Amino acid sequence: MNEQISAASLYDRVARVIPKAEWMGFQDDVEAILELKRKRNAVILAHNYQTPEIFHGVADIVGDSLALARKAMEVEADVIVLAGVHFMAETAKLLNPEKTVLIPDMAAGCSLADSITPEDIALLRKAYPGVPVVTYVNTSAAVKAASDICCTSGNARQVVESLGVPRVLMLPDEYLAKNVARETNVELIAWRGHCEVHELFTADDIRELRESHPGVTVLAHPECPPDVVEAADFSGSTAVMSDYVGRERPARVVLLTECSMSDNVAVHHPDVEFIRPCNLCPHMKRITLGNIRTALEENRHEVTVDPAIAVAARRAVERMLEV
Ligand code: 13P
Ligand code: SF4
Repeated sequence: MNEQISAASLYDRVARVIPKAEWMGFQDDVEAILELKRKRNAVILAHNYQTPEIFHGVADIVGDSLALARKAMEVEADVIVLAGVHFMAETAKLLNPEKTVLIPDMAAGCSLADSITPEDIALLRKAYPGVPVVTYVNTSAAVKAASDICCTSGNARQVVESLGVPRVLMLPDEYLAKNVARETNVELIAWRGHCEVHELFTADDIRELRESHPGVTVLAHPECPPDVVEAADFSGSTAVMSDYVGRERPARVVLLTECSMSDNVAVHHPDVEFIRPCNLCPHMKRITLGNIRTALEENRHEVTVDPAIAVAARRAVERMLEV
């Protein structure tokens, strides 16, 4: 996508959210990454929470977790660099076992993925015999392999209802499960996992925002606590929030989610005022232009999935993509 573009000409895209002096510091890495992508026949998949110099500067494919999984299946390049967190890179590898998948920092984890193990799922299956297990993609490949089907925040209700059963174990995000439970007649049994970024938002934050910024439209990610989602005007995955802003063009908006989202969406909507209380994801922020460049130069860190779990994990992801 960026192949014939120079770093200097790319600045126009991000001028609204990156000061020129800061961009000058990025230019060398951007030029080097564009060249390395050509040389290595590589593509960069970037999540909506990546910083704008990555998202708008070097990424080929951007989106929410669902879009990244879907688009990972269509990649024809030899190398995929996942600018996001480890579970996303594992999902890309599951769907592209023959390709080299790199993550610039192996420590880019996720509090939700850390909250549950395959052993926990085995215990839950004993406690709830015959109840299908739906796991959020924010989990390890081993947990996916122990599940019946995956979901993302963009398709959770559809996945749960596609099973045609009255009761489902929906793991590991307690708040996502409770938020989806309000939209469906299927009984959802939840786990106690939380996103360390979204659990920090409160309904009081929303009340204060509405007082200090009259007329503001409040969008909340479904990983937020249920009382926050209830107090918001709209809730959806990162891609759904971005689409909402493009469609509805609210005069003032706040996105209760990770901080880079507003920057990335604001680039396309100069007419919308973005109010910026937000929370940083320390895992997403481990990815930088510098370590993307090193990943491509030194072919690191290669993501692999144990063949003993890869088939079952891939099946759970593919079942989701078929819904
Ligand atoms: P989505 O982009 O699928 O909404 O996920 C948000 C998230 O927290 C990913 O880590
Ligand atoms: Fe995990 Fe939350 Fe960070 Fe997403 S924002 S990677 S769910 S900790």
